[in-house]
Amino acid sequence: MRHLDEFSMYGNRRVVLNRYAFHGELKEQPILSFCQEQGIAPDFLEIIWEAFQQDSTPDEHLLMKFDLDIILAYLKKTHHYYKDRLIPELEMTLHNISLEHAVDHIIISELSSTFYAYKKDLIAHIEEEENGFFRYAEQIIQDKFMIGMDLASQFSLDHVHEEDAIEEMIRFVKKYLPVSDRLSQRIFVSKLQLLRRDLLIHAFVEDNVFVPRVLELELK
Ligand SMILES: [Fe+2]
Ligand SMILES: [Fe+2]
Repeated sequence: MRHLDEFSMYGNRRVVLNRYAFHGELKEQPILSFCQEQGIAPDFLEIIWEAFQQDSTPDEHLLMKFDLDIILAYLKKTHHYYKDRLIPELEMTLHNISLEHAVDHIIISELSSTFYAYKKDLIAHIEEEENGFFRYAEQIIQDKFMIGMDLASQFSLDHVHEEDAIEEMIRFVKKYLPVSDRLSQRIFVSKLQLLRRDLLIHAFVEDNVFVPRVLELELK
């Protein structure tokens, strides 16, 4: 059984748009005018959205045609969306789950420690990218020649996304907290599935679109 309208969640472009304007409510307005306002390329959005719907990776050949700053904006906005929205929402839901159980519930404390360890790793990963390779890419985009700094191949060698903790938490909730009519548990699993799907696309764009595009600039 699908959780919490999973289909409609991915069937709506908001699943991609949310990272571009999540502080305010997304106004009901035509997608094209929203994209124009936010400086988003609508065709870029469509390719990412298609990947969400198919639960697969996006078409890298199509994405390669976009300007590097559009690709970089997507990556940075996505980081921001994880840190300031998805992770806090998961945290809040986890708190609600804990309220439904005894405070010293061993299962909850195990779930919490997996979650907080994962949160720490994800935020460290994001900060390392933003302060390292992304900053370097920004300099290259602005045409600041950086002699001898061929960081793209190094980044692709070091870059690993192991999101096993997400799977582990999903399995854990389903196995040890099986009362599936508890809303907070369903929301928690559903948001983990959303994060997993989002990260799959995000990491693919980093490795297969962003890195090769930066590499092209380095070789110029
Ligand atoms: Fe990233
Ligand atoms: Fe990454």
